[in-house]
Amino acid sequence: VGEQDARYLISLIRSVPGFPKAGVLFRDFMPVINDPRGLRIMLRALRLALPVPEDSFDSVAGLEARGFLFGPALAANLGKGFIAVRKAGKLPPQTVREEYSLEYGQAQVEVEVSAITPGERVLIVDDLIATGGSAKAAADLVERCGGTVAGFSFVMGLDGLEGTASLGPIPRARS
Ligand code: ADE
Repeated sequence: VGEQDARYLISLIRSVPGFPKAGVLFRDFMPVINDPRGLRIMLRALRLALPVPEDSFDSVAGLEARGFLFGPALAANLGKGFIAVRKAGKLPPQTVREEYSLEYGQAQVEVEVSAITPGERVLIVDDLIATGGSAKAAADLVERCGGTVAGFSFVMGLDGLEGTASLGPIPRARS
């Protein structure tokens, strides 16, 4: 996207000090989703900034909840399907589960085994990478279902906290 669009996109991101608890500067991209121009720019930026070529993956996996807000739209733009990485306990069997710790807490995520075919190449997306804990858990689930992780795409990264080590050598991008 152009300089002007990039500036506009960044201007829509709301920073909320002390949410959801003291010491956290919460980066809220909901105003981007809420804004017609912002949403279009964001989806275009994600597509332009893919970490790997469009033909090098088969599907897009998004993390609940905010990865669900744009993952399916990105997947549709790319002509691919969407895989839901859900909070534990929401999906019917058969599922695989991983636990991880995040900047402010602990969580478990699940994927339905039947959502991924053996050898399927998956791009994992979320709004924000902090420690990389949730993205790493999603990657482990994809692999446990027989898929391979082609790359990661994030809308935002947190300076100094981008989970660089935790995701290993798999290509990643932020828009
Ligand atoms: N998830 C983890 N850290 C976050 C932050 N600072 N803002 C928004 N989402 C987050």
